[in-house]
Amino acid sequence: MEDKRIPAADFAAARREVLSAWPTGAGVDPGEALSYQRAVPADKRFAEAVRAGRAAGRLLLQPRAGVALIDEHIRLLRYLEAEGEADLLPTTIDAYTRQNRYAEAARGIEKSEASRTSMLNGFPAVNHGVPGCRRVTESVSRPVQVRHGTPDARLLAEITLAGGFTSFEGGGISYNIPYAKNVPLRTSIADWKYVDRLCGWYEENGVSINREPFGPLTGTLVPPCIGHAVGILEGLLALGQGVRSLTLGYGQGGSLAQDIAAVRSLRELADEYFREAGFSDYDLTIVFHQWMGGFPEDESRAFSLICWGAAVASLGGADKVIVKTPHEAMGIPTKEANAQGLRASRQAVSMLADQGKLETAEIQREREVISREVRCILSRVLALGNGDPAEGAVAAFEAGVLDVPFAPSIHTRGKILPMRDNEGCIRIFNRGAIPFDSDLAAWHRDRLEERARAEGRSVSFQMVTDDIYAVSKGRLVGRPR
Ligand code: 5AD
Repeated sequence: MEDKRIPAADFAAARREVLSAWPTGAGVDPGEALSYQRAVPADKRFAEAVRAGRAAGRLLLQPRAGVALIDEHIRLLRYLEAEGEADLLPTTIDAYTRQNRYAEAARGIEKSEASRTSMLNGFPAVNHGVPGCRRVTESVSRPVQVRHGTPDARLLAEITLAGGFTSFEGGGISYNIPYAKNVPLRTSIADWKYVDRLCGWYEENGVSINREPFGPLTGTLVPPCIGHAVGILEGLLALGQGVRSLTLGYGQGGSLAQDIAAVRSLRELADEYFREAGFSDYDLTIVFHQWMGGFPEDESRAFSLICWGAAVASLGGADKVIVKTPHEAMGIPTKEANAQGLRASRQAVSMLADQGKLETAEIQREREVISREVRCILSRVLALGNGDPAEGAVAAFEAGVLDVPFAPSIHTRGKILPMRDNEGCIRIFNRGAIPFDSDLAAWHRDRLEERARAEGRSVSFQMVTDDIYAVSKGRLVGRPR
């Protein structure tokens, strides 16, 4: 593949501009940041932790967590480390920071100080600046990742990486389409190219930074092939800028066979496309997200969903699982509820650790279907971009060749309508311009007609609505009452 890396001089100029966008940017001195990162001990490096976990066949657990004030946030992370036994720690960023609204984040910090409770839904890392981030990463003993949902994360990446974080979530597609309404894809992909180049720059200088595209997208009935195609494209873009530690993600769909097949096919397909593009010197891991859709309000039911997700991640052979909490239906969890989700997950994962991987005919069937779907989509996307994944992604979303269901963005067609088949697998009812071959198209149609017959109704939009609410009401398939 031709060298698409941002040239050094352009990148240096862009860095100066990004760092001048908000006063705390001046706290980033690239040379000093590099020395600081070089001194982070190996057992606090995210890339090393996921590599070692995978080598040992250990499924790592990670929560989500973030509050407005530094001391509060440190207390939270220490609690999750000690009482939740989290293997990896997060810092979830607040919604203002995700939108680059730092003045409003500053008011949120003030209000939180006055009320002694978090008035932001995450940690405003840009406002706290490099020293505030370092206090956080130095106060815990596990590697810490930045988790967010930011279309333009350039300044956030600069400050948090200089602040000792060793992993950065997101991507130019996965942190735009599900998170923003109006940001053009070309813009977010260009801004994420900067983030990837920044990580690549650290890599070149001997500091490994883990990168994790956001696999679940809108988290609602997303067919595996859609998330996989986006993840592989973002992986290609990241590797193209020099990233070497890459974690691709998948959000639990609910069908055991389809979920296990999705985990396995994601690893296999990503390796295939990365090698085909000429990359060999990278470390790939897979993260499984426990159920990202609507949760039951009842905490006992929520625990069941959490444990089921942990079990599927283990049976599928994922390397990491992002854990939910019994407070999911209510909002931001307490630290106690967060640790409960971790401990419940740990019990399931530990009991399955020695049982090997599950293989069934249904898993094999789904694996073949997903692989075929992803190849249909990606061959068209890459053709549209003449081999360039960034150009291909922009053209594909414009043409509806790639489409994300239930997304707020005007830059995806939103034509695709997913629903469950009679066994609970997510299929596509209306596929818009997604380029399946005729066998695949017939397969989806037949599977949905089978369900319609079993339910004595025709395939219709009502099934989509029924499926969206089914899990929170205690079922997988949204059957008529
Ligand atoms: N702390 C804990 N969890 C959070 N989430 C979002 N922000 C936070 C936070 N500050 C979780 C939501 C949802 C997922 C997308 O992220 O509860 O599970």
